[in-house]
Amino acid sequence: MKVAVLGAAGGIGQALSLLLKTQLPAGSELSLYDVAPVVPGVAVDLSHIPTDVKVAGFGRDDLSGALTGADIVLIPAGMPRKPGMDRADLFNVNAGIIKVLAEGIVANCPKALVGVITNPVNGTVPIVAEVFKKAGTYDAARVFGVTTLDVIRSEAFVAELKGLDVATVKVPVIGGHSGTTILPLLSQVEGATFSDEEVAALTPRIQNAGTEVVEAKAGGGSATLSMGAAAARFCMSLVKGLQGEDVVDYAYVEGNGADAQFFAQPVRLGVNGVIEILPYGELSAFEQQAKEDMLDTLKKDIKEGVDFMAS
Ligand code: 2OP
Repeated sequence: MKVAVLGAAGGIGQALSLLLKTQLPAGSELSLYDVAPVVPGVAVDLSHIPTDVKVAGFGRDDLSGALTGADIVLIPAGMPRKPGMDRADLFNVNAGIIKVLAEGIVANCPKALVGVITNPVNGTVPIVAEVFKKAGTYDAARVFGVTTLDVIRSEAFVAELKGLDVATVKVPVIGGHSGTTILPLLSQVEGATFSDEEVAALTPRIQNAGTEVVEAKAGGGSATLSMGAAAARFCMSLVKGLQGEDVVDYAYVEGNGADAQFFAQPVRLGVNGVIEILPYGELSAFEQQAKEDMLDTLKKDIKEGVDFMAS
């Protein structure tokens, strides 16, 4: 298994790479790419951890070295949010970065599974899809927006509120990865019921959890450690799928377009990425309304990505 992390020297990239060094199956390769000159040092640092995962660092001019032979590519590269900014404010900077990296993937490992972390995910995933389409190598089953952070935050907050075992609590989260487009399905949490007041308080807390971190870091960046943990967890789902295990996880993918062209929903994973898009089940009246209310925003975010590539 070869996993490439693009943007490996940043806050998310380093946390993610550390977790992958300790979690990838024995015999795997971990390939770290970054434009920051510290990246070879990050690779040396990680290489001193005694696991059977080979780590190599690749600098600015060696994107192809990092990507050649990759089975999975994870992209945390880009600028993080500062207080007062929302994810859409990042679009102009990060759209250009994600386009160049996607072109590198097309040129070097067009069959890899690609997990996009770079914000705004609602718009950067469509950019990656458009780059692949332009090259004639698009396979919707292989391109993912990583929304696992919304899932793990929901698990943490629900377990805390309801006194449940956080190791077993499961919360489906659908939609996108920004503000109201993040929709936790609290009505589907097994072993817990929520009052209308709890739903009305917990839903926006999950939706604004990224802002909670941005404000708490007070100018020092956005979520890096929890995002690293989330991306590592999603990567391990992709790895298990590639190894032939039956895995279901949530991700932002291009499906049948019933809600929007791209939508976070449960997917069954296998050796070629998504093998089946699963129904997300019945929604409560609150969730149904919240889903309808978010769709305009989500579709606008998607269009921004598609338009960026058309211009
Ligand atoms: C967040 O939700 C960084 O997108 C990430 O905090």
